[in-house]
Amino acid sequence: METAFISRLKPLLDAVAKTMDVYVPVKVGEYYACRKYDPGGTTEPELNEIRMSPPVKELLFPLRELAAVFPEPIDPQPVKPFAVFGLKTCDLRSMEILDKVFMEKDFEDAFYIARRKMMLTISSDCSSPGESCFCNILAGKHVYVVGGGVGLAPIRSLFLTLVDRIGDFKSVVCRFGARTPEDFIYKKTLFGGWQKLQGVEMKLTVDKANGDWNGHVGMVTTILDRRDVDIANAVAIVCGPPIMMKFVTVSLLGFGFNPASIYLSMEKNMSCGFGKCGHCMLGKYYVCKDGPVFTYEQISKYPNIWE
Ligand code: FES
Repeated sequence: METAFISRLKPLLDAVAKTMDVYVPVKVGEYYACRKYDPGGTTEPELNEIRMSPPVKELLFPLRELAAVFPEPIDPQPVKPFAVFGLKTCDLRSMEILDKVFMEKDFEDAFYIARRKMMLTISSDCSSPGESCFCNILAGKHVYVVGGGVGLAPIRSLFLTLVDRIGDFKSVVCRFGARTPEDFIYKKTLFGGWQKLQGVEMKLTVDKANGDWNGHVGMVTTILDRRDVDIANAVAIVCGPPIMMKFVTVSLLGFGFNPASIYLSMEKNMSCGFGKCGHCMLGKYYVCKDGPVFTYEQISKYPNIWE
């Protein structure tokens, strides 16, 4: 890794742009988007602002790509080297997770690997976090993770990060529920390795038991307890069906959680996902661009948030 001073940024970008396409964060309306750098242009890359929207993942996973013509898969097209400037620590961490998922072991995605190998990353961190940034809100806290049904899917990457940096937190307490045992996702790890992780305390429940389930039966709210964490120094992360999130939030508020310490993942309201259709509007927020994670304090004053 090399360090580049801001005063030398343009010469650096110009030099890199001679050998490959360079993408930089630029201000587009209220947001920061990734755009191709033009050495002769007037648009200045934005420095020290929060991460780009949409995320860097879009450069590694285009929204649309031909991967097969039935019945045969297609090999990835050759990818030219490219550079992305301005990636934040959270972008780099998310790329680590993508690398684990798509470059290791059982499932290798040739299309992802082709792009990833050609990508040069040049990072520049934020001067301060945004309202919904996870980077500084969890360290040193009790982290209370509550998930229901397929809500475990968005929670998984957070959970793996918590496990990876377990020493950064006072405790990690997870409460997950599903309709039946079969409805849990990630069953192999959830029922297996995740139960034995050092520093993680986990309880599972199902609305309706069947098969050989001998665990707790009841809604996820029935396995929440105000003694699970030190509430004054805790942050709750909630993701699941809207009705479950509603009742979990009511329980957490009843335990004494600060509305600003309850983080809700509001993906349910999204439709187009890139700020055009307006379906995701939550008061003044676009869920797809401003979230999808909000504190209860941010959105509680708006009507119909659980619909
Ligand atoms: S999902 Fe369409 S504007 Fe947000």
